[in-house]
Amino acid sequence: MSAKILEVKNLKKYFPLKTNLLGREKEFVKAVDGIDFHINYGEILGLVGESGCGKSTTGRTVLRLLEPTEGRIIFEGQDITHLKKNKLRSVYKHMQLVFQDPFASLNPRKKVGNAIDEVLYVHGMKDEAQRRETVRELFDMVGLRGEEDKYPHEFSGGQRQRVVIARALAVNPKLIICDEPVSALDVSIQAQIINLLVSLKNRLGLSYLFISHDLRVVKYMSDRVAVMYLGRIVEIAPADELFKNPAHPYSRALLSVVSVLGSGKNKKKIILEGEVPNPVNPPSGCRFRTRCKYATGQCSEIEPQFKCIGNGHFVSCHLY
Ligand SMILES: Nc1ncnc2c1ncn2[C@@H]1O[C@H](COP(=O)(O)OP(=O)(O)OP(=O)(O)O)[C@@H](O)[C@H]1O
Ligand SMILES: [Mg+2]
Repeated sequence: MSAKILEVKNLKKYFPLKTNLLGREKEFVKAVDGIDFHINYGEILGLVGESGCGKSTTGRTVLRLLEPTEGRIIFEGQDITHLKKNKLRSVYKHMQLVFQDPFASLNPRKKVGNAIDEVLYVHGMKDEAQRRETVRELFDMVGLRGEEDKYPHEFSGGQRQRVVIARALAVNPKLIICDEPVSALDVSIQAQIINLLVSLKNRLGLSYLFISHDLRVVKYMSDRVAVMYLGRIVEIAPADELFKNPAHPYSRALLSVVSVLGSGKNKKKIILEGEVPNPVNPPSGCRFRTRCKYATGQCSEIEPQFKCIGNGHFVSCHLY
């Protein structure tokens, strides 16, 4: 088997906008516009970028919660891009989503233990005693021993996210897409959930696609990090390397915030000028050129290819 649990090739997700006044020409929000990446078994790949750059769309399309417009999604060597809905259950046994708002993802009228019991049943565990035991073990694993008979509203936000994590783990997944899993939680609780995710990952040999605004958390958690800008990945590198030597002008600006907060060295926060362009009509050539102080003529004409500039360090920029 390949070392890659997930491989994404030239993935695109366009959302159609309404037709114009004449009823012609549909326009599209190019939320994800041709991205390639992979995740190795046991690896955490961080995904960062400004709001609206396409991180959640990437996660949801990989899970086939959104239909891809183009490209390929290969999970454990199987091309799942066009897998029929009724065949996706076998994929969801191994790939799960944990997202920002745990309250929205739990049924308020169902005891949390029963909700997980149902997941186990649907995924083939027909023996009731076995299910009860498994639910008990799952609650134990996420630090909620004996709490399975409560309703979602009886928990705090952090505890609810633990319930959601337990439910994701119920099917014995190998890859979890974590989309801002701690953003909605109190800062004091965030570290506990992050540590839980790390310890579960190590204990169960999981892989994560870890989407987050919080660059310090991404730096702490990730083995490698991909930086997204306007539907594209502009740089991908091992986490240490990326945070030490960000190469793309966009990554440098984005990550400068962390170096300022972190080491206290004489680094300056780089302020990005200008607005994020509209993803309906992204700039020609390099998408970042309208905000890049290094942009030259070729940046508007030629789209930069990905280049390897070091061990596992790839960047798409004409400076290299
Ligand atoms: N269902 C949809 N229909 C139309 N446009 C959408 C839809 N979902 C997302 N978009 C657009 O796609 C782009 C990418 O959105 P996405 O939610 O993936 O960004 P994000 O990087 O996750 O942002 P954030 O950091 O705020 O969560 C945005 O321009 C957004 O407005
Ligand atoms: Mg998002």
